[in-house]
Amino acid sequence: MNDKLALPVGTTLDRFIMRKQEAFPYATGELSQLLRDIALAAKIVNREINRAGLLDVTGAYGQQNVQGEDQQKLDVIANIRFIRALRNGGEVCTIISEEEDDIIQTGNHKGKYIVAIDPLDGSSNIDVNVSIGTIFSVYRRLSEQGCDGTEEDCLQKGDRQVAAGYVIYGSSTMLVYTTGHGVNGFTYDPSLGEFFLSHPTITSPTTGNIYSINEGTYNYFPEGVKQYVNYCKENDYSARYIGSLVADFHRNLLKGGIYMYPATTKAPKGKLRLMYECNALAFIVEQAGGKATNGSQRIMEMQPTELHQRCPLFIGSTEMVDKVHEFLKAEV
Ligand code: AHG
Ligand code: MN
Ligand code: MN
Ligand code: MN
Repeated sequence: MNDKLALPVGTTLDRFIMRKQEAFPYATGELSQLLRDIALAAKIVNREINRAGLLDVTGAYGQQNVQGEDQQKLDVIANIRFIRALRNGGEVCTIISEEEDDIIQTGNHKGKYIVAIDPLDGSSNIDVNVSIGTIFSVYRRLSEQGCDGTEEDCLQKGDRQVAAGYVIYGSSTMLVYTTGHGVNGFTYDPSLGEFFLSHPTITSPTTGNIYSINEGTYNYFPEGVKQYVNYCKENDYSARYIGSLVADFHRNLLKGGIYMYPATTKAPKGKLRLMYECNALAFIVEQAGGKATNGSQRIMEMQPTELHQRCPLFIGSTEMVDKVHEFLKAEV
């Protein structure tokens, strides 16, 4: 590894981003600024989440989003905070969000970047004090600078991401991200208001014994997924399912495991969103040595056709994803 890229545990996120940028002589610093903007919004959202029970920001907002989900107050608050930070930062021309019907133009016509965001992931867990998150993807715009970004700029394949990450608001708050040179994790120290490098160069175990799936919908799973779940039980794997994708993913990334949200007879396209959830986590898992597919195709090679497109997701340790594929292939 390039020596310039190795930084010690305890390095602040700001210094880490700056040093990484220096290692690439033609980097202009705009992506670095964008990442700092996201970190700032994450700190603000973290503050709102920590005090949620005291601030009357738990519970439903009273409206549905374009996906037909009841928005929670914190879904709306997080959406506003991230959009505001990205608009103020100036590097992003266009944003797409799980919580917004249409593309959002920031007015920063010179901005080179597009951001796709799930501002608050796991919103059913807000009111019960369980880990939740934020997920983001960054793309370079395809259109010329000087005007708004286009839908085509937003509908890029996952393998065009220049950065992706997530924030987990858990027992501690962490920001984990990649720019395509490995995955690094930072833990937030609320007393100092800083993220510090705590998990350098995260590599995911090639196999594990944790499987994460909403087994309550077992009857609606494809036959291959049913058989794989049975295989997990026969092999005494542990079932772990928080119901916040970020939290389930984070655990499996560190410990080894697989997360599955298949297409079901009730939800034939699956539930998770390609642009706001699957692509970012696919980029991260691959950078950490794992795999992400829709059951037959690499997530990052899927050509998106709609902003709010859903897709099945099988993500985690390589050997486990390969194993579920064997069962899925045998089914056809
Ligand atoms: P979001 O809160 O951003 O809408 O995402 C919810 C997702 C994901 O976080 C979680 O893994 C999944 O929905 C849980 O779905 P089920 O309740 O169907 O298991
Ligand atoms: Mn939602
Ligand atoms: Mn989500
Ligand atoms: Mn969400």
